[in-house]
Amino acid sequence: MNDSHKIIIAIDGFSGCGKSTTAKRVAKELNYIYIDTGAMYRAVTLYFYRQEVDINNDSAIQTALQNIEIRFEYEAATQKNVTILNGEAVEDEIRQMHISERVSGVSALPAVREAMVAQQRQMGAGKGIVMDGRDIGTNVFPNAELKVFMQADVQIRAERRQKELQAKGQEVALQKIADNLSERDHLDSTRIQNPLRKAEDAHIIDTTHLTIEEQSQQIVDLALAVESN
Ligand code: DC
Repeated sequence: MNDSHKIIIAIDGFSGCGKSTTAKRVAKELNYIYIDTGAMYRAVTLYFYRQEVDINNDSAIQTALQNIEIRFEYEAATQKNVTILNGEAVEDEIRQMHISERVSGVSALPAVREAMVAQQRQMGAGKGIVMDGRDIGTNVFPNAELKVFMQADVQIRAERRQKELQAKGQEVALQKIADNLSERDHLDSTRIQNPLRKAEDAHIIDTTHLTIEEQSQQIVDLALAVESN
């Protein structure tokens, strides 16, 4: 299929449903570019944490945002896309619990959202992208040709996340992970600016009983159907 049929695929949903793993597979299958918007909010959170930016001080936030440059780079050794914050690979650090615990607070700040959304729209301008997050189908690309909303039972999500962390050598109690997921779901869904919600025209995929392969294939099938229209 030639590039003119390429579309924008927006994947939103609750924390820990497998959005990014699925989005990566879909992008690979369709030869699309994958953009992890959660990683962008996590990188901003890491910067704020390290620089001790006061999230109640608007001018400190503005100054910080002007000093943040985020991009994604392909790392040949691991065959993975890594998040680069001001020239430094921060992929592992942004996934740690101390960042997960702070990211919903930072990503609720209107100035942070405006800056990230502007970058995300630029990144997706060329089509042929799979972007995952919380407000992609509702706000970043409300005209995306394909929108998916992912959900799953919180206990299953916590178990999957625990395994991921264990694979990286991080031992975190299941309840702590479940509490973090529930708290982020609540904060992300109730914030004032661009809260997490299903776009009216999004396809719901409940991943509780699905494998990554199955959920990826469902999205690829939907995408191919839209592409060929
Ligand atoms: O996808 P993730 O769990 O890595 O995202 C981390 C946090 O970033 C999530 O709890 C809410 C925030 N986020 C957001 O507000 N908007 C997005 N488009 C993506 C993530």
